Amino acid sequence: MQDTSNAMIEISAVSKTYETSQRGRHLALDDVNLTIAEGQFVSILGPSGCGKSTLLYMVGGFVQVSGGSITVKGKPVSGPGPDRGPVFQEFALFPWKTVLENVMYGPLEQGLPKAEATEKARKLLALVHLAKYEKFYPKELSGGMKQRVALARTLAYDPSILLMDEPFGALDAYTRTRLQNELLDIWERDRKTVMFITHSVEEAVFLSDRVYVMSPSPGHIRKVFDIDLPRPRIRSELLLDRRYQDYVVSIEKLMDEQDKELV
Ligand SMILES: Nc1ncnc2c1ncn2[C@@H]1O[C@H](COP(=O)(O)OP(=O)(O)O)[C@@H](O)[C@H]1O
Ligand SMILES: [Mg+2]
Repeated sequence: MQDTSNAMIEISAVSKTYETSQRGRHLALDDVNLTIAEGQFVSILGPSGCGKSTLLYMVGGFVQVSGGSITVKGKPVSGPGPDRGPVFQEFALFPWKTVLENVMYGPLEQGLPKAEATEKARKLLALVHLAKYEKFYPKELSGGMKQRVALARTLAYDPSILLMDEPFGALDAYTRTRLQNELLDIWERDRKTVMFITHSVEEAVFLSDRVYVMSPSPGHIRKVFDIDLPRPRIRSELLLDRRYQDYVVSIEKLMDEQDKELV
């Protein structure tokens, strides 16, 4: 069993059944168990349709569990909360607000005076290398820049947990790599607890302390890999590191086996 004494997120025997018009009752998740410790960076890896987003939305409180339980800091999840900041693939920015206004939105909502909200938003924009773009509107930005704004906007709420659903999935390889590095830089600073969904094996290994591999639908946890690689992670060094390569190859093999079992 895992050590759950400092568990930030505890998912126990969780299942999810969707009622659908076409398929009737559809079991999306079956007996999922996982634990994320405070400050840990954990990735969930699995094929399309295995229930990764469903699992993340349930931790976020946007979707209800059908069975089992999810607790955050020991308390059952009953809905969304400011302690859990979502960062999704579709950037969800307000198109009519500037970059700065988008990032200020959360702090203003939380009652911070305008001057302080502005200062906070500017600091976060500097952190994601967008200081020069504060007056731009989302439509004037590239995908990578929009995703940076979305990250800054979520960080502005000071969540202790980041819930990230394939946040870099829509980006080109170069931008994706840069954003991975930036995310790790930010994470190194304040060690938020991160639950990161991806279907990229390399992304999961590069970023994470632990990788949960899910089986195809109905999703359950197939295997857990503790990624024992030094931090800060430097891609150019890791690519040559035998241990990094071994993790990537072992996980790729496991996922290939799963694909074959489906045929
Ligand atoms: N709101 C919904 N209603 C019905 N079925 C859904 C709903 N959301 C997801 N599903 C189904 O649940 C399964 C898991 O979906 P999802 O969590 O999006 O998987 P993933 O993120 O791993 O691709 C899929 O078969 C999907 O069609
Ligand atoms: Mg998904």
